[in-house]
Amino acid sequence: MAPAIDQVATFELPSYKSADNIDLSARIAEVRKQLGSKLLILGHHYQQDEVIAHSDLRGDSYQLSQMAASSSDCRYIVFCGVHFMAETADILANRPEKLTERDGERVTVVLPDMAAGCSMADMAAIEQVEAAWEDMGEVIDTSRIIPVTYINSAASLKSFCGRHGGIVCTSSNAAAVLEWAFERGDRVLFFPDQHLGRNTSLKMGITNEQMPVWDPYADELGGNTTAAIDNSRVILWKGHCSVHQMFRAEHVDQFRGKYPDIKILVHPECPQEVNDLADISGSTGKIIETVRSAEAGTRWAIGTELHLVNRLKAEHPEQEIHFLSPVICMCATMYRINLAHLCWSLENLAAGTIVNQIEVDEETSRWSLVALERMLEVK
Ligand code: 13P
Ligand code: SF4
Repeated sequence: MAPAIDQVATFELPSYKSADNIDLSARIAEVRKQLGSKLLILGHHYQQDEVIAHSDLRGDSYQLSQMAASSSDCRYIVFCGVHFMAETADILANRPEKLTERDGERVTVVLPDMAAGCSMADMAAIEQVEAAWEDMGEVIDTSRIIPVTYINSAASLKSFCGRHGGIVCTSSNAAAVLEWAFERGDRVLFFPDQHLGRNTSLKMGITNEQMPVWDPYADELGGNTTAAIDNSRVILWKGHCSVHQMFRAEHVDQFRGKYPDIKILVHPECPQEVNDLADISGSTGKIIETVRSAEAGTRWAIGTELHLVNRLKAEHPEQEIHFLSPVICMCATMYRINLAHLCWSLENLAAGTIVNQIEVDEETSRWSLVALERMLEVK
């Protein structure tokens, strides 16, 4: 509930940074009590434990999108995740039928730290994608290409997909999305994560020869020959996750050499050689579910962000869980969301001051929604 205008107060961030976590936790709990069902705190699985402890709901990107799309009572979503997730929540929570349901009242989406971006999402800018589309048009018929963007991308790219008969995918529905795309076109332009695109397409029988990589910084045709583009089925954007690219085939070999019975469980953002060697590959939601439903005593080496693997270790003492890499692979931008930023954004919200609002413009939202609704229909 927004306070009367004379009650509005603004709190500055520096004092929060010096507060201790016990104090911050108590204050966060107080705001949650005060705002009740008007406030929804969403947390991605890569968030720190102390942040997850304050999340009303946690999930992978697909589940979090569903949660934002189905929210009804809430007026504020505080997104403990990264920028593209908050943008997606803004688009889905404020789509036309939801606005009608709420008599035009918008849901305000807040990202506690604006520096929580995604380096992979930043690897594809809308100007680069538009230029690539135009270049491809010199060689192949773009009306037969279905653009597919991984949800880890700016809203402008989702909007591009909406406008061009394309769709958004997540790591949990990428295979179904590619099938959807091939029912509607001859080829796919997949951005920004080449690994998710490649790993998913290989499982569908598409070969690496049919998947040229488009380098947005190359002089011509993304660094490809006309023949390579002409023979393509999936054109992969040259982007990657800096966290998941740290996992290597030799890490899998080392674990298998030491423990022949070990199960290798990885995220599809890992490179092909790791995915090919893994027993199971899937979204963070699938990784959690796989461990949860395994027999006690199962031995795992897991290739995904460190905070999630550590949480799985703590929550499943009945299993033996190892981190797949010998070096620390953590998402520095997810890590930016901490109790200080969360408390700061929440106390401001309760005092009637919106800080760090994420609001996608109307035109971008309209077309992004087209691509996101397609994504939500494809499981
Ligand atoms: P999921 O949680 O959807 O598997 O995605 C992982 C990720 O890297 C989010 O940025
Ligand atoms: Fe982006 Fe990788 Fe971090 Fe996910 S783990 S938010 S893809 S940088």
